[in-house]
Amino acid sequence: MALDRPNDLSAFWMPFTANRQFKKAPRMLVAAKDMHYTSADGRQVLDGTAGLWCCNAGHCRPKITEAIQRQAGLLDYAPAFQMGHPLAFELASSLRDMAPDGFDHVFFTNSGSESVDTALKIALAYHQARGQGNRTRLVGREKGYHGVNFGGISVGGITNNKRLFPSLPGVSHLPATHLKENAFSRGQPEHGMHLADELERQAAIYGGETIAACIVEPVSGSAGVILPPKGYLERLRAICDKHGILLIFDEVITGFGRMGAAFATDRFGVTPDLITCAKGLTSGVIPMGAVLATGKIHDAFMEGPEHIIEFFHGYTYSATPIACAAGLATLEVYREEGLFERAHELEGYWEDAVHSLKDCPNVIDVRNMGLIGAIELEPIPGEPVKRGFSAFLKAFEKNIMIRTTGDTIAMSPPLIIEKAHIDQLAETLREVLHEID
Ligand SMILES: Cc1ncc(COP(=O)(O)O)c(C=O)c1O
Repeated sequence: MALDRPNDLSAFWMPFTANRQFKKAPRMLVAAKDMHYTSADGRQVLDGTAGLWCCNAGHCRPKITEAIQRQAGLLDYAPAFQMGHPLAFELASSLRDMAPDGFDHVFFTNSGSESVDTALKIALAYHQARGQGNRTRLVGREKGYHGVNFGGISVGGITNNKRLFPSLPGVSHLPATHLKENAFSRGQPEHGMHLADELERQAAIYGGETIAACIVEPVSGSAGVILPPKGYLERLRAICDKHGILLIFDEVITGFGRMGAAFATDRFGVTPDLITCAKGLTSGVIPMGAVLATGKIHDAFMEGPEHIIEFFHGYTYSATPIACAAGLATLEVYREEGLFERAHELEGYWEDAVHSLKDCPNVIDVRNMGLIGAIELEPIPGEPVKRGFSAFLKAFEKNIMIRTTGDTIAMSPPLIIEKAHIDQLAETLREVLHEID
């Protein structure tokens, strides 16, 4: 049943939403196909954000939809603990085959937040297993977004997500890599590699042998698309190696083709010890996430009596059959349609389109890489966020879906996007930026 006019909006407490504003003027989506949403008032809205950076294969792709339908009628649920079902193993193998070399083991979760907290726990437990239980410090980064669970907000660096809640003890942060001198860079910016040296400084302050892991988004998405300066990730890797610190790449956004390669790890040629992912794993259709681990990490757990659980962690819905069916079908769509290569091929066109907006009113920076683009607006004095939000509302009125964080517009379209859609996004955004205050 399509319920396109719910008449009571009060019960649903909406996540990360200005609830009162929304409920006065709701923006409802009732259907989706390929590159478009259908709004409740019947408009076709071009999806410039792949939902929330997740629908990388586009919307309602028959292969994925049918796989879910089939699985729901065959095996709806199987206990995740001490029992298995074939699709979980099949998906883990497919993911391993798609993952960067050496990431041979997959721990399934249901979201990016769960993937992050799982990876942090794996890192801590790994050091314990190797007799280095004194390694408990976690290092994140300012402006980092690692979901909303307690581990994730502790290592994360977005103040509004942190300020009301206690943090894990023993967490410190690297500086963000958002530098004014890099404004209007195309791809990776030139300046800021030295910001990785803060990890070396923290190793000097706290003792490198007390740091368990350093977690960063290779490209930070939710804080407004912040790219790693040239050489920065390499330097982080070198400092981690020097001190025996595990490097975790949070690839919840950058995984599954967003960067024009399967993972940002491939794109940047810097290999972490653990990779978190979610979103694009099922093209956003069913909640699912995963942590990818190297043999070195996984094998450290495989000690002791064989009847004892090696890692006391997991979720009721870890690798639930319908999510696995969705994941397998999604990875097949990526492979069959060459969508990661497609993202790579479109990157130049996308980059030119995004940077063509640099002369629009109030634009103070444009950033891009892979199929991600950001346009940073000068905040209205004394009213941060307002200009960004106006752009978002005006864009939706004009039938394009963008995303704004603060006063930065972020775009991350499905990888099936056509050049004509890119033109439409750029032309409409140009109008939007000229029409808002
Ligand atoms: C890098 C990163 N990590 C973790 C998360 C959290 O994912 P979820 O909302 O699925 O919990 C996100 C979500 O945007 C993210 O961008």
